[in-house]
Amino acid sequence: MRDAQPKAIYLKNYQPPEYLIPETRLHFELHEEFALVHATLRLARRPGSSATSLRLHGEDLELLAIALNGRALVDGEYAVDDASLTLTGLAETVELQTTTRIRPQDNTALEGLYKSRAMFCTQCEAEGFRKITYFLDRPDVMSVFSVTIDADLERYPVLLSNGNRTAQSGLADARHRVVWEDPFPKPAYLFALVAGDLARVEDTFTTMSGRSVVLRIYVEEKDLGKCDHAMQSLKHAMRWDEEVYGREYDLDIFNIVAVDDFNMGAMENKSLNIFNTSCILASPETTTDVGFERVESIVAHEYFHNWSGNRVTCRDWFQLSLKEGFTVFRDAEFSADRGARDLKRIEDATLLRTAQFAEDGGPMAHPVRPDSFIEISNFYTLTVYEKGAAVVRMIHTLLGPERFRAGSDLYFERHDGQAVTCDDFVDAMQDSSGVDLSQFRRWYSQAGTPELAISGEYDADARTFALHVTQSCPATPGQPDKLPLVIPLAMGLLGDAGNLRLQLQGEPAGSELADNTHRVLEVNAAEQSFLFTDVPEKPVPSLLRGFSAPVRVRYDFSREDLCALMMRDGDGFARWDAGQQLMVQALGNLQTQRRDGEALALDPLLVDALGGLLRDEQLEPAVAAAMLALPGENTLAELASHAGGADVEGIHAAREHARGAIAGALGDELAGVYRRCRVSEEYAPVGEQIGRRTLANVCLSYLATLGEAQVALAATQLEAADNLTDRLAALQILAQYGEASQRESALQRFYDDWSHETLVVNQWLQLQAMLTVGDSLERVRALMEHPAFTLDNPNKVRAVVGAFASGNPTGFHRADGAGYGFLGGIVEILNRRNPQMAARLLVPLTKWRNYPAGRDAMREELQRLAALPDLSPDVYEVVSKSLA
Ligand code: PHE
Ligand code: ZN
Repeated sequence: MRDAQPKAIYLKNYQPPEYLIPETRLHFELHEEFALVHATLRLARRPGSSATSLRLHGEDLELLAIALNGRALVDGEYAVDDASLTLTGLAETVELQTTTRIRPQDNTALEGLYKSRAMFCTQCEAEGFRKITYFLDRPDVMSVFSVTIDADLERYPVLLSNGNRTAQSGLADARHRVVWEDPFPKPAYLFALVAGDLARVEDTFTTMSGRSVVLRIYVEEKDLGKCDHAMQSLKHAMRWDEEVYGREYDLDIFNIVAVDDFNMGAMENKSLNIFNTSCILASPETTTDVGFERVESIVAHEYFHNWSGNRVTCRDWFQLSLKEGFTVFRDAEFSADRGARDLKRIEDATLLRTAQFAEDGGPMAHPVRPDSFIEISNFYTLTVYEKGAAVVRMIHTLLGPERFRAGSDLYFERHDGQAVTCDDFVDAMQDSSGVDLSQFRRWYSQAGTPELAISGEYDADARTFALHVTQSCPATPGQPDKLPLVIPLAMGLLGDAGNLRLQLQGEPAGSELADNTHRVLEVNAAEQSFLFTDVPEKPVPSLLRGFSAPVRVRYDFSREDLCALMMRDGDGFARWDAGQQLMVQALGNLQTQRRDGEALALDPLLVDALGGLLRDEQLEPAVAAAMLALPGENTLAELASHAGGADVEGIHAAREHARGAIAGALGDELAGVYRRCRVSEEYAPVGEQIGRRTLANVCLSYLATLGEAQVALAATQLEAADNLTDRLAALQILAQYGEASQRESALQRFYDDWSHETLVVNQWLQLQAMLTVGDSLERVRALMEHPAFTLDNPNKVRAVVGAFASGNPTGFHRADGAGYGFLGGIVEILNRRNPQMAARLLVPLTKWRNYPAGRDAMREELQRLAALPDLSPDVYEVVSKSLA
């Protein structure tokens, strides 16, 4: 925390470092009260620089000794303040030695070296290394590290760092020493160290060139039985990266460590990934189907970073999406290849439309490559990750898979061992393919969600169908005017008997496209038209298939058009999407009826369509489940924010009414499908089973709105379940729809059964934080008093406070504003203890402009926070930007 108001830094002011650090030697002495860090840095002036002074980063460090080229420095020969160490009169190459004392035990921010339960671990991305020792803590300074760790043998038998273990020995006082050397130069943010009493599972992987790699997952002894899924996922990811990208692993050992206290999901430190236990441990009893899929995709994500992030890294933190956008795209394709592609696209589109569009339309909106920031931790956002991935996906779509792969090969070949920019990535794609991507680059610099307003015009005499497309993008902070983007618009045309053959004017006639019913139109001007010829009947356009671009589409579909697309389009994603649009319309009508004091009547067309889905035995269960689920309250709020503001109560009431009406009309079908899906089989987290369970639980949750008899189904399921997916789904239904006594006893019983499993307890906490029966805020306050809760563990804070603020809209936005005050109070406490967490939790409050009813109270809470003394830069940035 600094005294002066934190200042923004700007991409346009980027300067290369004056010195480089080709070699770094670290020696850690870990003790119970403190740790000593002896650092030896070989500093070499950057060719082209003439600097003789150097400012190294360092925070919360106690400097005990300092020497240059072996000579101890005296006061006046260097300067230290709370963020840096400055050296002057430097020769071209020097050796700097420092000894600093740090206090990992007191590090509640979980950044730098800290303690998680009984183990030491590190988290250095983005700027945590400077809390370990004085360094040039910036990603364009890449160094070869060797690391010596000394610690008590009994408490810390396992000592890990990056690279290869090269030595090990006993020391006096029952201590021991291990030495690790990483041959690959890396930025400090990829440094990692772990010390603890850990057990491990081990496996091997043979790479495409025949090298054998040892794979190890380190966990607490009690969790040894929950590592298998992660290990299998890792091996699948390693193989996939060889097959799809030609990328081979580059060391003989790959380690993963699970820690309980972690601000994020996981971290790709070179050959020593550190994971939040919630993203690595998995077992049928403690992990839901969604949890299994998340473990697989995060293990893959971190592994993929070995190339997209580590071998080729970012020049500066403005380029964060260079590694994150690309790596999210890679892990999404991996998941799509492993499971069901349409479903993965549905999940990702939902995330983008709900949360990323909201971010991009709010006060923190920023481009995929931000121009400025105060605190980089605030920019690990959906925009950088998910929109960044969508941007890479669009390049993939525009180039096609072969040319994309060639571009990727060129990128890795050109930049191996370098710290580069998003432009370098696009250059490689452009140079290898010959496709001009100059206009496309605007996606990296322009914030905001573009909108395509599309209309269709059928000329029966000429047998033509014209699509008129207008693109626009709303103003965002600092960017009042926008330029047209290149937007790949995947589409088809639906006729009475299915999708029509497409013939675009200007395209060679009868062109031999493999799929003649699907096209990707390249939208690149403010206004343009596409003319299809030889169209035998008036079609319904199927637009933005596969969510081919992160944009909103407006087209004046009739309800019948949407039904037709939903039931018959050839593209799975488009079918789901049409259903969602029909639901959004229907739910909007219910809200209007409610506001006008009319009786609520759900669109019968929607009910019929859903009945059709339930009766369609050919439809894959997972797809049926996705198509039956109504858009979430946050999705509806985001859509409404675009049109005057969200009525939280109205959205909730409309949605609950619709659920009841659907169940009322389709009770038999829902019960039938539920029974059909409840197959007794040994649990496995595999697609087909997951689909059946998801569909069964969707049906059950509809049925539960019908009353006691159906709620009893949930009680039976809870008793019978042998896996967490079915158990948690049933518990949620009992707690939400059962009577008070039923609710409380089911919750208590569940806790008694699972209190020994932290990750299960966290899901139990989260479920309760999102219940909308009774006084939710009261419940959440009580949960925070529960022995299973602590503000020091980010997973618990997310499960209770985060889930309440973003997953319980009616509770959080209650009319008296108490939800806002509650969140503000937690942020105030965490502001000092864990600034990153505090700033993240705050995000729901920043959306105050979207909520007419809570606008003033939300803003006032932000103003109260803004006036607090001692705001961390993290919280300061979010608060000040959201009030601006
Ligand atoms: N780089 C990590 C990832 O995306 C995320 C992360 C960022 C973790 C910052 C910790 C701190 O995989
Ligand atoms: Zn990542």
